[in-house]
Amino acid sequence: MIVSNKMKRLIRNQEGWTRKMFEEGMQMKKTLGEDKVYDFSLGNPDVEPPQALKSALIDMLTQTTPGTHKYMENSGYLSVRERIAEYLKMHYGLPFTGKHIFMSVGCAGGINILFKSMLNKGDEIIVPSPFFWEFKNYIENFGGIMRLVDTKEDFQLDIEKIEAAINDKTKAILINSPNNPTGAVYSEESLQELAKLLYRKREEGKEIYIVADEAYKKIIYDDAVLPNIFEIYDLVVSITSHSKDLALPGERIGYIAISPNIKEIDLLISGLIISIRALGFVNAPALFQRAAGMFQENSVDVMEYKKKRDIIYNTLIESGFECVKPGGAFYLFPKSPIKDELAFVKRVQREERILVVPGRGFGRSGYFRIAYCVTMEKIMNALDGFRRIGKRYY
Ligand SMILES: Cc1ncc(COP(=O)(O)O)c(C=O)c1O
Repeated sequence: MIVSNKMKRLIRNQEGWTRKMFEEGMQMKKTLGEDKVYDFSLGNPDVEPPQALKSALIDMLTQTTPGTHKYMENSGYLSVRERIAEYLKMHYGLPFTGKHIFMSVGCAGGINILFKSMLNKGDEIIVPSPFFWEFKNYIENFGGIMRLVDTKEDFQLDIEKIEAAINDKTKAILINSPNNPTGAVYSEESLQELAKLLYRKREEGKEIYIVADEAYKKIIYDDAVLPNIFEIYDLVVSITSHSKDLALPGERIGYIAISPNIKEIDLLISGLIISIRALGFVNAPALFQRAAGMFQENSVDVMEYKKKRDIIYNTLIESGFECVKPGGAFYLFPKSPIKDELAFVKRVQREERILVVPGRGFGRSGYFRIAYCVTMEKIMNALDGFRRIGKRYY
């Protein structure tokens, strides 16, 4: 048998609802036609990267400087890390240098090398739920245990529940804001409360890190503010990528930013270097590292996402759905009109050809996720379907 027992267990146990819906959608599109299916299943941006970035890539590819495609330091080009550090210094007001930045293979690759460097077997990572399902894999890959803690009704952090989940094995809390699947942006107040709790635990002898997945940090709307997590707490490692803000998910480029307040930085970097080699990534893609260095200030048009959020959110509310208005990312996470959201999602797929993902795929049954990173035309054509669904249930 070619596949290991452990992998067979994983295959059996993985719900993988997002992919499942996406694949069903592909099948439906084949039989019914692309324009007859309204696919809101996957966070795969349907916009192009900025034109200036595409032109810069062409320029880079036509350069004849020898060595531009060679291996470089495992942590990435120093010049690129220094440019990113300058950008972070300006935005976060902390003395970042190139040393604090580690280029990664997307946000996913970044979290994996970080956890490989951080986790002892049995260490626990607290994850506020609903959550991005892959976190479970990223933690369990390295012998860690994911400890889910429900967020409040408005998807903000529940500090009392987090406190109750902390024990001797707790190594870190993995927060993701703006959040996938809810679009929630954790408030300054809730993060301050979290920091207060973690400082209190430190006085009692327990050191806990904040690992911040900031894959959507630039997709934030003008009615929300992303608090400066580096200012709020000292032991912070943030991981981000350009999959969403520069619409480059297939190119696999991101970076880890380590707070200048973390004293064991040299040891951590040595760990990250071993990890990126041991996992076989070796380094982040060279061409896209250079592009990332040049385009820190840029992003896709966030106003376009805001327009899309507003149109779908308003239609849902007018149609009777209950939904917390998201402050960022490109997801909505409404309540299902019936308890069994899987039955609801299947009905919506069958009757309206609208594809959404059941909340159980994110640890919260009774809800469903809409990924609105699709064209405006697709959204406009799907609105009547959402209205009809609303009429059937409300
Ligand atoms: C919360 C979150 N983290 C990480 C990732 C992975 O991002 P990347 O493509 O940068 O690896 C995603 C992708 O959808 C995500 O939603």
